[in-house]
Amino acid sequence: MYVCLCKGVTDKTIRRAVDDGLSSMRELRQQYGVGSQCGCCTQCAKDIVKDAVAER
Ligand code: FES
Repeated sequence: MYVCLCKGVTDKTIRRAVDDGLSSMRELRQQYGVGSQCGCCTQCAKDIVKDAVAER
């Protein structure tokens, strides 16, 4: 599903990025722009990063 509509980023993309070494919302924002426009997705994206990091 799309997490960030503004940037067209899905939960799969976020999980893949975490598998590839990304480990924080800050990095996700820098690399994918997630949360950098309307900001609606920030909490949801944060939860997915946290979850994916815990599963790593
Ligand atoms: Fe992610 Fe708007 S939905 S910045």
